[in-house]
Amino acid sequence: MNHPRITIAIDGYSSCGKSTMAKELARRIGYIYIDSGAMYRAVTLYCLENNLIINNIVQREALAQVMNNIKITFATNPNTNKQETYLNGICVEKEIRTMRVSDCVSLVSQIDFVREALVAQQRAMGNNKGIVMDGRDISTAVFPEAELKIYVTASARVRAERRAAEMENADIDDIERNIAMRDEMDINREISPLRKADDAIELDNSHMSIAEQDAWLEARYQEVIDRIK
Ligand code: DC
Repeated sequence: MNHPRITIAIDGYSSCGKSTMAKELARRIGYIYIDSGAMYRAVTLYCLENNLIINNIVQREALAQVMNNIKITFATNPNTNKQETYLNGICVEKEIRTMRVSDCVSLVSQIDFVREALVAQQRAMGNNKGIVMDGRDISTAVFPEAELKIYVTASARVRAERRAAEMENADIDDIERNIAMRDEMDINREISPLRKADDAIELDNSHMSIAEQDAWLEARYQEVIDRIK
Protein backbone atom coordinates (compact mmCIF):
# COMPACT_ATOMS: atom_id res chain seq x y z
CA MET A 1 0.00 0.00 0.00
CA ASN A 2 1.19 3.51 -0.77
CA HIS A 3 1.81 5.61 2.31
CA PRO A 4 1.07 9.33 2.14
CA ARG A 5 4.33 11.29 1.88
CA ILE A 6 4.90 13.86 4.58
CA THR A 7 7.42 16.52 5.60
CA ILE A 8 9.59 15.78 8.62
CA ALA A 9 11.37 18.65 10.40
CA ILE A 10 14.04 17.91 13.01
CA ASP A 11 15.50 20.81 14.97
CA GLY A 12 17.86 21.04 17.88
CA TYR A 13 21.20 22.10 19.28
CA SER A 14 24.45 21.49 17.44
CA SER A 15 25.87 17.97 17.61
CA CYS A 16 22.84 16.49 19.37
CA GLY A 17 22.55 13.58 16.93
CA LYS A 18 19.82 15.12 14.76
CA SER A 19 21.51 14.27 11.47
CA THR A 20 22.25 10.70 12.48
CA MET A 21 18.60 9.99 13.23
CA ALA A 22 17.28 12.09 10.35
CA LYS A 23 19.51 10.30 7.82
CA GLU A 24 18.61 6.85 9.10
CA LEU A 25 14.87 7.55 9.03
CA ALA A 26 15.14 8.96 5.48
CA ARG A 27 17.03 5.83 4.39
CA ARG A 28 14.48 3.48 5.96
CA ILE A 29 11.42 5.19 4.51
CA GLY A 30 12.95 6.22 1.17
CA TYR A 31 12.78 9.99 1.72
CA ILE A 32 15.25 12.72 0.68
CA TYR A 33 17.47 13.86 3.54
CA ILE A 34 18.74 17.43 3.71
CA ASP A 35 21.28 18.69 6.26
CA SER A 36 20.47 22.41 6.35
CA GLY A 37 23.45 23.09 8.66
CA ALA A 38 25.74 21.90 5.84
CA MET A 39 24.33 24.71 3.69
CA TYR A 40 25.20 27.38 6.30
CA ARG A 41 28.62 25.74 6.67
CA ALA A 42 29.18 25.83 2.89
CA VAL A 43 28.37 29.56 2.73
CA THR A 44 30.79 30.07 5.65
CA LEU A 45 33.53 28.15 3.82
CA TYR A 46 32.92 30.30 0.76
CA CYS A 47 33.35 33.42 2.94
CA LEU A 48 36.59 32.13 4.46
CA GLU A 49 38.00 31.20 1.06
CA ASN A 50 37.11 34.57 -0.43
CA ASN A 51 38.28 36.86 2.39
CA LEU A 52 34.73 37.79 3.32
CA ILE A 53 35.39 37.31 7.05
CA ILE A 54 37.97 39.75 8.39
CA ASN A 55 38.78 39.83 12.13
CA ASN A 56 35.63 37.84 12.85
CA ILE A 57 33.47 40.32 10.95
CA VAL A 58 31.52 39.20 7.91
CA GLN A 59 31.81 41.66 5.03
CA ARG A 60 28.07 41.94 4.53
CA GLU A 61 27.97 44.13 1.43
CA ALA A 62 30.57 42.07 -0.38
CA LEU A 63 28.78 38.84 0.55
CA ALA A 64 25.42 40.24 -0.57
CA GLN A 65 26.94 40.94 -4.00
CA VAL A 66 28.08 37.34 -4.50
CA MET A 67 25.31 35.46 -2.66
CA ASN A 68 23.70 34.50 -5.97
CA ASN A 69 26.96 32.92 -7.12
CA ILE A 70 27.00 30.48 -4.21
CA LYS A 71 25.44 27.20 -5.33
CA ILE A 72 25.05 24.43 -2.80
CA THR A 73 24.07 20.94 -3.88
CA PHE A 74 24.17 17.43 -2.43
CA ALA A 75 25.18 14.14 -4.04
CA THR A 76 25.61 10.60 -2.76
CA ASN A 77 29.15 9.24 -2.88
CA PRO A 78 28.81 5.87 -4.66
CA ASN A 79 31.74 4.38 -2.71
CA THR A 80 30.53 5.23 0.79
CA ASN A 81 26.84 5.64 0.02
CA LYS A 82 26.99 8.82 2.10
CA GLN A 83 25.57 12.17 1.08
CA GLU A 84 28.16 14.88 0.48
CA THR A 85 27.90 18.65 0.21
CA TYR A 86 29.08 20.49 -2.91
CA LEU A 87 29.96 24.18 -3.14
CA ASN A 88 29.86 25.43 -6.71
CA GLY A 89 30.37 21.89 -8.00
CA ILE A 90 33.27 20.98 -5.68
CA CYS A 91 32.87 18.46 -2.87
CA VAL A 92 33.50 20.29 0.42
CA GLU A 93 32.12 17.70 2.83
CA LYS A 94 35.39 17.48 4.79
CA GLU A 95 36.24 21.19 4.76
CA ILE A 96 32.85 22.29 6.11
CA ARG A 97 33.26 20.10 9.23
CA THR A 98 36.54 21.71 10.40
CA MET A 99 36.75 23.89 13.53
CA ARG A 100 37.73 26.81 11.26
CA VAL A 101 34.25 26.69 9.75
CA SER A 102 32.49 25.77 13.02
CA ASP A 103 34.02 28.82 14.69
CA CYS A 104 32.58 31.23 12.09
CA VAL A 105 29.31 29.62 11.03
CA SER A 106 27.20 31.41 13.66
CA LEU A 107 28.40 34.77 12.29
CA VAL A 108 27.22 33.86 8.82
CA SER A 109 23.98 32.11 9.80
CA GLN A 110 22.67 35.19 11.60
CA ILE A 111 22.71 37.31 8.43
CA ASP A 112 19.19 38.01 7.12
CA PHE A 113 19.88 37.68 3.38
CA VAL A 114 21.88 34.47 3.87
CA ARG A 115 18.94 32.92 5.72
CA GLU A 116 16.44 34.15 3.12
CA ALA A 117 18.46 32.63 0.28
CA LEU A 118 18.97 29.29 2.01
CA VAL A 119 15.40 29.02 3.32
CA ALA A 120 14.11 29.59 -0.24
CA GLN A 121 16.35 26.77 -1.51
CA GLN A 122 15.28 24.50 1.36
CA ARG A 123 11.57 25.10 0.66
CA ALA A 124 12.13 24.29 -3.02
CA MET A 125 13.79 21.00 -2.03
CA GLY A 126 10.71 20.11 0.04
CA ASN A 127 8.15 21.02 -2.60
CA ASN A 128 7.15 17.42 -3.23
CA LYS A 129 7.22 16.35 0.44
CA GLY A 130 8.91 13.00 1.16
CA ILE A 131 11.73 14.91 2.88
CA VAL A 132 13.51 14.80 6.22
CA MET A 133 15.37 18.05 6.95
CA ASP A 134 17.34 18.89 10.05
CA GLY A 135 18.52 22.24 11.39
CA ARG A 136 17.52 24.98 13.80
CA ASP A 137 14.50 26.62 12.19
CA ILE A 138 13.01 23.87 10.07
CA SER A 139 9.85 23.46 12.21
CA THR A 140 9.47 27.17 12.86
CA ALA A 141 10.47 28.92 9.61
CA VAL A 142 11.21 26.55 6.72
CA PHE A 143 8.34 24.05 7.02
CA PRO A 144 5.94 25.35 9.69
CA GLU A 145 3.29 23.09 8.12
CA ALA A 146 5.40 19.90 8.53
CA GLU A 147 3.32 16.92 9.64
CA LEU A 148 6.06 15.72 12.02
CA LYS A 149 8.25 18.08 14.05
CA ILE A 150 10.93 16.93 16.45
CA TYR A 151 12.99 19.04 18.86
CA VAL A 152 16.15 17.26 20.02
CA THR A 153 18.25 18.15 23.06
CA ALA A 154 21.25 16.62 24.88
CA SER A 155 23.72 17.99 27.42
CA ALA A 156 26.66 20.04 26.03
CA ARG A 157 29.22 17.56 27.41
CA VAL A 158 27.52 14.56 25.81
CA ARG A 159 27.36 16.46 22.52
CA ALA A 160 31.07 17.42 22.70
CA GLU A 161 31.98 13.78 23.37
CA ARG A 162 29.99 12.66 20.34
CA ARG A 163 31.55 15.25 18.04
CA ALA A 164 35.07 14.45 19.34
CA ALA A 165 34.53 10.80 18.45
CA GLU A 166 33.92 11.84 14.81
CA MET A 167 37.06 14.01 14.53
CA GLU A 168 40.79 13.32 14.39
CA ASN A 169 42.98 14.93 17.11
CA ALA A 170 39.99 16.56 18.75
CA ASP A 171 40.34 18.57 21.95
CA ILE A 172 37.11 17.86 23.77
CA ASP A 173 37.22 21.05 25.88
CA ASP A 174 37.66 23.16 22.72
CA ILE A 175 34.70 21.41 21.16
CA GLU A 176 32.54 21.90 24.24
CA ARG A 177 33.41 25.61 24.25
CA ASN A 178 32.49 25.87 20.56
CA ILE A 179 29.20 24.05 21.17
CA ALA A 180 28.31 26.30 24.12
CA MET A 181 29.15 29.39 22.05
CA ARG A 182 26.99 28.20 19.15
CA ASP A 183 24.09 27.28 21.50
CA GLU A 184 24.23 30.84 22.83
CA MET A 185 24.17 32.35 19.34
CA ASP A 186 21.57 29.94 17.98
CA ILE A 187 19.14 30.71 20.82
CA ASN A 188 19.74 34.44 20.99
CA ARG A 189 20.01 35.51 17.37
CA GLU A 190 17.36 37.88 16.12
CA ILE A 191 16.19 36.02 13.02
CA SER A 192 14.78 32.51 13.37
CA PRO A 193 16.43 31.65 16.69
CA LEU A 194 16.45 28.01 17.73
CA ARG A 195 13.27 27.30 19.66
CA LYS A 196 10.85 24.45 20.05
CA ALA A 197 7.77 24.85 17.86
CA ASP A 198 4.56 24.60 19.92
CA ASP A 199 3.56 21.40 18.14
CA ALA A 200 7.02 19.77 18.14
CA ILE A 201 7.73 16.59 20.09
CA GLU A 202 10.76 16.94 22.36
CA LEU A 203 13.46 14.27 22.64
CA ASP A 204 16.35 14.40 25.12
CA ASN A 205 18.68 11.72 23.79
CA SER A 206 21.57 12.24 26.27
CA HIS A 207 21.20 8.69 27.51
CA MET A 208 19.92 6.95 24.40
CA SER A 209 21.83 4.71 22.02
CA ILE A 210 21.65 5.41 18.28
CA ALA A 211 19.47 2.32 17.82
CA GLU A 212 17.09 3.55 20.53
CA GLN A 213 16.71 7.00 19.03
CA ASP A 214 16.23 5.55 15.53
CA ALA A 215 13.43 3.34 16.84
CA TRP A 216 11.89 6.26 18.74
CA LEU A 217 11.83 8.45 15.62
CA GLU A 218 10.42 5.74 13.39
CA ALA A 219 7.62 5.18 15.91
CA ARG A 220 6.75 8.91 15.81
CA TYR A 221 6.73 8.78 12.00
CA GLN A 222 4.45 5.73 12.06
CA GLU A 223 2.03 7.49 14.43
CA VAL A 224 1.63 10.36 11.96
CA ILE A 225 1.14 8.01 9.03
CA ASP A 226 -1.47 5.98 10.94
CA ARG A 227 -3.28 9.19 11.87
CA ILE A 228 -3.51 10.63 8.37
CA LYS A 229 -3.84 7.62 6.08
O1 DC B 1 23.87 21.53 12.44
P1 DC B 1 25.25 22.18 12.29
O2 DC B 1 26.00 22.28 13.60
O3 DC B 1 26.07 21.56 11.22
O4 DC B 1 24.91 23.68 11.82
C1 DC B 1 25.93 24.62 11.62
C2 DC B 1 25.48 26.02 12.01
O5 DC B 1 24.50 26.49 11.09
C3 DC B 1 24.88 26.14 13.40
O6 DC B 1 25.80 26.67 14.31
C4 DC B 1 23.70 27.08 13.23
C5 DC B 1 23.49 27.19 11.76
N1 DC B 1 22.18 26.68 11.30
C6 DC B 1 21.13 27.55 11.25
O7 DC B 1 21.27 28.70 11.64
N2 DC B 1 19.92 27.14 10.75
C7 DC B 1 19.76 25.89 10.33
N3 DC B 1 18.57 25.52 9.84
C8 DC B 1 20.84 24.97 10.39
C9 DC B 1 22.04 25.40 10.90
